[in-house]
Amino acid sequence: MIFIKSNSAIQDNELHKTASKAYQSLLSRKGEGNEFLGWMDINKIAPTELLHTIQKTADSLKQISDYVVVCGIGGSYLGARAVIDALSSSFPEKKPQIIYAGHNLSENYLSEMLHLLNTTNYSMIVISKSGTTTETAVSFRLVEQHCEKKYGIEGSKERIVCITDKQKGAMKTLADRKGYATFVIPDNVGGRYSVLTPVGLLPIAVAGMDIFSLIKGAENMAQTLLQSPENNPSLFYAYLRNLLLNKKYNLEVMASFEPKLFYFIEWWKQLFGESEGKANKGIFPAGVIYTTDLHSMGQYMQQGQRFMFETFLSVKNTSKICKVPEDKMNFDKLNYLTGKRISEINLQAKIGTILAHQDGGIPTIEIEIEELNEINIGALIYFFEFACAISGYTLGVNPFDQPGVENYKTNMFALLHKEGYEKENEQLQQRIDSKK
Ligand code: PA5
Repeated sequence: MIFIKSNSAIQDNELHKTASKAYQSLLSRKGEGNEFLGWMDINKIAPTELLHTIQKTADSLKQISDYVVVCGIGGSYLGARAVIDALSSSFPEKKPQIIYAGHNLSENYLSEMLHLLNTTNYSMIVISKSGTTTETAVSFRLVEQHCEKKYGIEGSKERIVCITDKQKGAMKTLADRKGYATFVIPDNVGGRYSVLTPVGLLPIAVAGMDIFSLIKGAENMAQTLLQSPENNPSLFYAYLRNLLLNKKYNLEVMASFEPKLFYFIEWWKQLFGESEGKANKGIFPAGVIYTTDLHSMGQYMQQGQRFMFETFLSVKNTSKICKVPEDKMNFDKLNYLTGKRISEINLQAKIGTILAHQDGGIPTIEIEIEELNEINIGALIYFFEFACAISGYTLGVNPFDQPGVENYKTNMFALLHKEGYEKENEQLQQRIDSKK
């Protein structure tokens, strides 16, 4: 169950109609980008049989690994990390530990990772829908060669799993030639909507989370959201953010008092940023973790320029108990907190922050789940995916494409002298030289 409320007193009936139409477009599957609506049908993208196969593969990787390298970027990385971080200990001791590659081009990062792999038992899951993403491909080549040296060609076969398109892309060819196990990313699911396909589910299962419950949570939420536009939390959230955008609140800060949700917010940023930021439109999604960031961004939030609204992502209950101990000397003057749970202090910090930011002129929305578990995280994922689709349609953009991402790639390929990019290289070189 997701609880959502807002302090915004404004209303716009016309916008409400537009958002309701957007909801209907999504349901009728006739809107723009409707070839990418596979994520809506949880039972088709994650049928029970597939979950069992994923679990079996996860179990065999777990048996032979102290570390599992999850290699991917963007939608092929953030969803898995969001769920794993939300549901793992902040100080994980359990093996295997999940480490990430393919999401940057840092020589330091990659060298340090390879150094770690020298002395540990590991396996790798590589994820790329296109099968051609440079960051992922470079990291994959490094780890694959390391793996072959360490475990041999045959040994590597049981340690490398590829998740990619069913037929196209360099990774598919490579996986088939090398004989690696593969899982398919459905054609009709785009990267940032793919966490509930093998893209997210295999790494999440390897990390020890219950993927059956995760999917159950998403299914429950799908039933609620698909049922009716009345009392529909995703439609309400999509409407609210467009309402605030129309009042010139151009930036949405997603704030949580739960640090485990840092990567969930990163996933949310990608989902909304890549889905809406086009045709010179879109709300800029930003994220903060409180109370940490109250001591850095808190000042700006309270008194800086007023162009943002703030959405609090709250978790009502914590599963662990930690209370402030008594100290008879009370030198630190903290005895007024003696016996209080840390979660109670955190809750009052949240309530105080929301009221202070409202006083500072920041419209607020609050989205709350009961506790951090697979069911609720699955529900939250579906809730945001659904809201993002409605919000994008309300805004008048196609929420399922990302044409702008290609621009940096073209420049990078040209500058690195990739075959076929000779003309672009010449043009860029002239621009660079003219600035010398
Ligand atoms: O959401 C998206 O489509 C992107 O963020 C992709 O997931 C990202 O660019 C990685 O692409 P690929 O899976 O093809 O390597």
